[in-house]
Amino acid sequence: MDLQFNRHRRLRQTENMRSLVRETDLHVNDFIYPIFVAEGKDIKKEIKSMPGVFNLSLDHLAEEMDEVVSLGIKSVLLFGIPLEKDDCGTQAYHDHGIVQEATRFIKEKYPEIIVVADTCLCEYTDHGHCGLIENGEVLNDASLELLVQTAVSQAKAGADIIAPSNMMDGFTVAIRAGLDEAGFSHVPVMSYAVKYASAFYGPFRDAADSTPQFGDRKAYQMDPANRLEALREAESDLMEGADFLIVKPGLPYLDIVRDVKNNINLPLVIYNVSGEYSMVKAAAQNGWIDEERIVLEMLTGMKRAGCDLIITYHAKDAARWLQEQK
Ligand code: PBG
Repeated sequence: MDLQFNRHRRLRQTENMRSLVRETDLHVNDFIYPIFVAEGKDIKKEIKSMPGVFNLSLDHLAEEMDEVVSLGIKSVLLFGIPLEKDDCGTQAYHDHGIVQEATRFIKEKYPEIIVVADTCLCEYTDHGHCGLIENGEVLNDASLELLVQTAVSQAKAGADIIAPSNMMDGFTVAIRAGLDEAGFSHVPVMSYAVKYASAFYGPFRDAADSTPQFGDRKAYQMDPANRLEALREAESDLMEGADFLIVKPGLPYLDIVRDVKNNINLPLVIYNVSGEYSMVKAAAQNGWIDEERIVLEMLTGMKRAGCDLIITYHAKDAARWLQEQK
């Protein structure tokens, strides 16, 4: 028989040969680890649907940060759980709000660590929406003012990167202008430019007690069915002065990651969100999957799809596994 075919297996024969031709590498520098900081004392409460992830008060933050640092993770993303919520999210932009205090704490004790502050109102409003409400609607422009105040107070506390996740139109240009005016022109904006109205945020909303008390977020977050709209959002944020773009959620939106990567020359971040984490954890706890291999394969897939950075609750485990592989 005289068959013509290519011998792809030549390059797969040994681990060293495979590593020679490997196109995508996962590195601890790729990870941003989200932390939920809670106002109050002696709180270390595991989030039921997110095993291994905790609400932590400031007095427990050093333990967490020591671990993060020992694993070589260089950036954390802070979410706040305030004691008091109100209709306009006052604690989001309070100079002594929980994210501001946690930022000061981390920057003082771990000055090298990059603190990314999530800029949104939904964890701080009693109605759970990401902006001000009038007649049952989330107001766009009025909410921008509060988001700018939030970003500026986070920058004042020492945040290295401001990450607005609220999906109001114009938040990037508003926050950029607000930061510049307040003397923070050096602080980058990592915009959640492409954020879908997703069921995958469920466990996060348990963790942050931020489920909308009425309605949903479909009037500001994107329709999961849309692809071209993601490029319009990304283009707007590029024009408005974003320094990084985020696509969120992660796994079900890898096509969007590739589209954005091919069209916009900004560092691209994927958010491997709470629901994605919970699914892996639940299956792993049942012994149905090999957690280490599954997680590393998923994170590699995200980078292969085109992202530069990954916000992930798996960061500590993944960092440990990568260390062990060396
Ligand atoms: C705040 C915010 C949310 C997440 C990150 N920032 C929740 C939401 O939009 O409902 C979700 C993150 C996750 O699910 O891990 N707006």
